Amino acid sequence: MRKKVILITGAAGEIGQALIRVLSEAPNHELLTLDLNPLPAELNGLSTHIQGDILDTNLFARLVTEYDFDTIFHLAALLSTRAEFAPELAHRVNVDGTLNLLRVAAEQSQRRGQSVKFIFPSSIAVYGMPDLEIKMRDNQVREWEWNYPTTMYGCNKLYCELLGTYFSRHYQQLATNRPVMVDFRSVRFPGLISAFTVPTGGTSDYGPEMLHAAAKGEPYACFVREDTIIPFMAMPDAVTALLRLAEAPREQLSRLVYNVTSFSLTAAEFKERVIAAFPDAQITFKPDVQRQGIVDSWPAGLNDQAARRDWGWEPAYDVDRAFEEYLVPNIAQRYGRSV
Ligand code: SER
Repeated sequence: MRKKVILITGAAGEIGQALIRVLSEAPNHELLTLDLNPLPAELNGLSTHIQGDILDTNLFARLVTEYDFDTIFHLAALLSTRAEFAPELAHRVNVDGTLNLLRVAAEQSQRRGQSVKFIFPSSIAVYGMPDLEIKMRDNQVREWEWNYPTTMYGCNKLYCELLGTYFSRHYQQLATNRPVMVDFRSVRFPGLISAFTVPTGGTSDYGPEMLHAAAKGEPYACFVREDTIIPFMAMPDAVTALLRLAEAPREQLSRLVYNVTSFSLTAAEFKERVIAAFPDAQITFKPDVQRQGIVDSWPAGLNDQAARRDWGWEPAYDVDRAFEEYLVPNIAQRYGRSV
């Protein structure tokens, strides 16, 4: 008998760690986690962890003999800034890695005769606003607007949304005449901010970096201009979005890819909130041309009406609650500060 599990790839990343904590509290779920890195010690015992590469097809050939994947949260990716330094590697990890996982899901669904849910985090990086004027004018982009990514990461995410959709509808149906039941679902996240982890290699990282640096009492030079605006979300809401979308009855979904968001903030407004919490914070602005270009191409806000309507999406943390109840107290505690 193969063991029924939920598979989480990229499990040692920011979303992965938060998702493991929540899922491990739910009864009747066994978690199999995969990452190039080990999990932090405090997550030990919450899952069976495999240190490995999503590009290693032999590893998956072995895993499927032992495990029956019920749901796959495919989180592993190289984020937007890092991907610009190594675009071909990013393509391999982000696209070939996703293709491997989709193939595994398709095989698994045929073996079990039941669909495998495939939950995929996508990103505001799939959008490419042509200039700042249009960015400020169209500040609530809908899913099908401005799908012209400027980064390798954005291209990878947009294409993998399509690949997942293809797998859920057409993959091998003609050849085998057997339905492939990959139940692919995706959310496009804004910049995520966690109180417990810091991001690596992303371009929305200036928000969380500013906050964590201030709490640590370290100076921070923000790599975008003060007027730079993008949408953000607190990490608990990101986990809620993934879980709600995974649980939604399929017939309620009018699309397979949904925008989700919480609040939009300029870098200057972010700084104001950080200083309100940590008055001795030393924050300056030193824009980096390339990273500024990336963030300028991302929308100022997302229209997430479809998610709200179809599966009841609603963030628990608006900007005030995110800072006052989640970020500031937890970050302060993490670095031993009183607020
Ligand atoms: N937050 C991610 C990044 O900055 C976007 O998905 O790369």
